[in-house]
Amino acid sequence: MEIRIVEETTSTNTALYEEGLAGRRDDCMLVAFRQTNGKGRRGRDFYSPVDTGLYLSIFLHTEMEVSKAMLLTPLMAVAASEAVEKYIDDSMSIKWVNDLYYKDKKVSGILTESSPLTLDGKTEFVVIGIGLNLFEPEGGFPEDIKNRAGAIFYKNIKNVTDMSHNELVDFKKELAQVILERFEFWYSKFPDELPVEEYRKRSYISSRWVQILDGPEVFVEGISDDFGLAIQYKNGSKNILKAGEVSLVL
Ligand code: BTN
Repeated sequence: MEIRIVEETTSTNTALYEEGLAGRRDDCMLVAFRQTNGKGRRGRDFYSPVDTGLYLSIFLHTEMEVSKAMLLTPLMAVAASEAVEKYIDDSMSIKWVNDLYYKDKKVSGILTESSPLTLDGKTEFVVIGIGLNLFEPEGGFPEDIKNRAGAIFYKNIKNVTDMSHNELVDFKKELAQVILERFEFWYSKFPDELPVEEYRKRSYISSRWVQILDGPEVFVEGISDDFGLAIQYKNGSKNILKAGEVSLVL
């Protein structure tokens, strides 16, 4: 699929979403080096400074049930982990459902948005966006996120501190390309074969206690075959969460 690269946009998700509403039919990837209005889940901002991050979205013109479209978030989590791991010696962790962690810090978030639904409840298009903190911004992360945000490449990547602006741009283009390759690999098997094993082995919260957002503390037994979170409540009853947000109990 086509890759478009821009220096700056409001949000790669919003840009592609608007193109979708205006009638875009072709799948594509939009990469930006900076977003002025990066969006996170639950209406939060996604801090998207120039130079230190990579922001991209994939547009898929596809009719599917929303429950199926939701599986594209963990699919992207696996694809991006595999891509990044080509450049580091250890593995990424995936915090259910849409965050990538590295060395116990959130280094990436994923936001999947569906088009308005058709009358029979299907998507017309889906936009899957991911933002990666490649390096730590000069002066560190902003106060409100600095305790949990981190960067992937501190001293992992060879000669990173010596990279010129152009080399950095080339590196980001290459990484975006590798993410797309891994995404297309898994998407070509979707939904018959899902990268659940690849997700499980990176799961950050399996066998740990977490707090469900606005809910109780539960024990995470693992990841179900359709990327649900298999949990056990303190009273022993079990459930599988299909969506939501949890935080680690420390
Ligand atoms: C989250 O952590 O809550 C999700 C963050 C998703 C950020 C990416 S950056 C590329 C794409 N464009 C956006 O505005 N958001 C997503």
